[in-house]
Amino acid sequence: MAFHNPHIRVTVVDKDETRIRRWNSKHPPIYEPGLNEVLRIARDGARECVFQTGRGGDDSCASSAGVSSECTSLCEEHAEGFTTVPSRRPNLLFTTEVARCIAEADIVLIAVNTPTKTRGAGAGSATDMTAFEAVAAVVAEHARPGAIIVEKSTVPCRTAQLIEDMLAHYRPGVHFDVLSNPEFLAAGTAINDLLSADRILIGSRPTPSGRRAADTLASVYTSWVPRSRIITTNVFSSELAKLVANSMLAQRVSSINSVAAICEATGADIDEISAAVGADPRIGSKFLRAGIGFGGSCFKKDVLSLAYLAETLNLPQVAEYWRCVVSMNEYTRNRFAARVIKCLNNTLRGKKLTLLGYAFKKDTNDTRESATLEIIRTLMEEGPREIAVFDPCCNPATTEAEIEQLLGPAHGSQVLKKNGGVVHVYTNAYDACNGSDAVLVATEFDEFRYTGPGKHSKLSTTAYTAPLLLDPRPFERLEPTEADLLALHKYFARTGETIGSDDPLDRFNQAPLCASDCPDCLLKTNAGPNASNYGAGGEHQAKEYLDWAKISYHMRNPKWVFDGRGLLDIRGMEKLGFRVETTGRQAEF
Ligand SMILES: NC(=O)c1ccc[n+]([C@@H]2O[C@H](COP(=O)([O-])OP(=O)(O)OC[C@H]3O[C@@H](n4cnc5c(N)ncnc54)[C@H](O)[C@@H]3O)[C@@H](O)[C@H]2O)c1
Repeated sequence: MAFHNPHIRVTVVDKDETRIRRWNSKHPPIYEPGLNEVLRIARDGARECVFQTGRGGDDSCASSAGVSSECTSLCEEHAEGFTTVPSRRPNLLFTTEVARCIAEADIVLIAVNTPTKTRGAGAGSATDMTAFEAVAAVVAEHARPGAIIVEKSTVPCRTAQLIEDMLAHYRPGVHFDVLSNPEFLAAGTAINDLLSADRILIGSRPTPSGRRAADTLASVYTSWVPRSRIITTNVFSSELAKLVANSMLAQRVSSINSVAAICEATGADIDEISAAVGADPRIGSKFLRAGIGFGGSCFKKDVLSLAYLAETLNLPQVAEYWRCVVSMNEYTRNRFAARVIKCLNNTLRGKKLTLLGYAFKKDTNDTRESATLEIIRTLMEEGPREIAVFDPCCNPATTEAEIEQLLGPAHGSQVLKKNGGVVHVYTNAYDACNGSDAVLVATEFDEFRYTGPGKHSKLSTTAYTAPLLLDPRPFERLEPTEADLLALHKYFARTGETIGSDDPLDRFNQAPLCASDCPDCLLKTNAGPNASNYGAGGEHQAKEYLDWAKISYHMRNPKWVFDGRGLLDIRGMEKLGFRVETTGRQAEF
């Protein structure tokens, strides 16, 4: 919104001081491809400059493990291009002054967390509205008369009524409009999903004032989204549509994973099934990759919220139907962990296991509801010598702290190796796999792919699944344009060259400095420049495929690899001496 509307001041308010401090620094708290440039332009201001649209040649659009964005190739919409951005001053602010900013706003978008309740009525499936209700009360108290209040959070159907009731209670006789405008972006492809939104959904009351409010919000989006992609509905339909969209995506993942179990027992091949089934246009090919199940903060909680809604409406069969989506997901993850243990002779004593990937999907550092954590929990029960973890996007110190916090109390003993436990988070994949008995591919990061014999190389030159990121040289013109130089810089960033600045063309005003406790600055200082793949602006840059031959050389026989994301070529890996087990296929030895 801020990027495409330089004339609108957008203020992000959050009570979490650390988060706001990081948003106001060189290293924001989340990693998203493309976030850095958008943030720099809107937050810091920029001179007139070129801006790269589309994905710029990486393969983040490629559907992965059924949980990524929708494109299977570099589609027209996500194709690389350049656009000129006029010079501009900052219009995106981050602050903790919640009440003051609400009082100043014409439109207030509420985007606080709405997790699953963990205690009390509906625990385990109902939506915990504590944060939402608290912030709605602040909005009700401070919003200026006539302000438009927008639900951005994913909320149970009829939440708009709750806000209207609160507004009527706190501010009797004052008029407000409440809209629903759910967010459809996906972690890992968020910037692209936002810049090339396939639809914007706005729900309003069917009154003249409600429709005017919906038009006002729509006009913010029409700065970059074609009007034809803005869908307007009644406010409750909009709330429910978001829950249904996520539930149907999750259901598709569970459906294909249930078929993967049949494949493993029969000798059918899940990839062949997906291709055959997906060729039917009524079914379509997206979200048909089998794996170890969906993770993330949204799918599970939204399916459960829908199931709970059905229960409260006295529709137990409907609730049961949706609950099965979640139980199939848990079954899938547990089946994978059980397969690892079984292949390792039902004992992990004295063995080292390595998990590649901790984030719930590639190109993000979001680890909420990650399958890896639950797999670690199961493996720990078997008393292994070590569980090694490596993730190219997640800060190792933060990951260790999180694993300790989430697994520590339940086990009643130490979790981290440094404290006498078994889990150690590494800063590179080779150390993590060194001396390992089994490697488990748990997240579909591109760099974990097997690229063929002797093809350990820079991502840009041998990617066989991705649209190639081509070296833009030689340039068309004798005098390279700004777009040429930007393309070259991106090419270098992706191929692992040392590129120094994240702003080589001096397009942006200076970024604010990080605080002394910034985890990303500390990582660079403590672990050296090769420890992390983060780009200069705090973004993950996939640079090289893993050298699986090198990993094989340093592993213990029989060199087990468990591919939970369908990334690896089994025959090629077997030639390197691995024994490979992959979801949805029988072992071939
Ligand atoms: N993360 C996603 O990919 C995604 C996608 C679509 C929809 N959503 C929905 O968006 C909502 C937010 O998700 P998220 O992942 O950003 O959650 P989050 O937990 O990462 O962030 C929520 C933020 O709200 C802040 N907050 C809570 N109460 C507050 C208060 N009273 N005043 C000020 N700040 C307050 C918290 O400090 C936190 O920083 C959820 O409803 C989620 O379902 C998320």
